[in-house]
Amino acid sequence: MAIRNLRYEGDEILSKRAREIEVIDDKIKELAKDMFDTMHKYEGVGLAGPQVGILKRIIVIDLYEDGQQYALINPKIISQKGEQIVDEGCLSFPNQFAKVRRAKEVVVEALNLDGKKVKIKGKDLLAQALQHEIDHLNGEVFVNKCEAGTLETLTADERQEKRRK
Ligand code: NI
Repeated sequence: MAIRNLRYEGDEILSKRAREIEVIDDKIKELAKDMFDTMHKYEGVGLAGPQVGILKRIIVIDLYEDGQQYALINPKIISQKGEQIVDEGCLSFPNQFAKVRRAKEVVVEALNLDGKKVKIKGKDLLAQALQHEIDHLNGEVFVNKCEAGTLETLTADERQEKRRK
């Protein structure tokens, strides 16, 4: 188990586009494991490569419900439907929360850690997490796309309740 250092607001890696992963080798598998460990330590529901300083297209998601754990390589949204306005936070912006407009449902194509093509259909929180993490791979962060006037900074106590990505 290895916890990676998180990158925070102001770190320029968070605004860069991550590169495609060509080969899923042991190093990538190790990275995925470390990303799960890091996300769990900070009680996040999602984490993207750039957030641990790796500019590669890899994300992990755990909704803490049965079977809702994903490690995805080169994920891509291939369709989306509907709309939801949701509360959002991010492990790279520990005290900031805002409302963000997201698609209600998405279909994502990716590779799993065995290099097999997978298609994930996500609704609600899973759809939100997939969109948030894929944004990270494109150098986009939620504070730049939130609904006007909804960005708030909370104290450590206040943020206990909130889930971050
Ligand atoms: Ni995030």
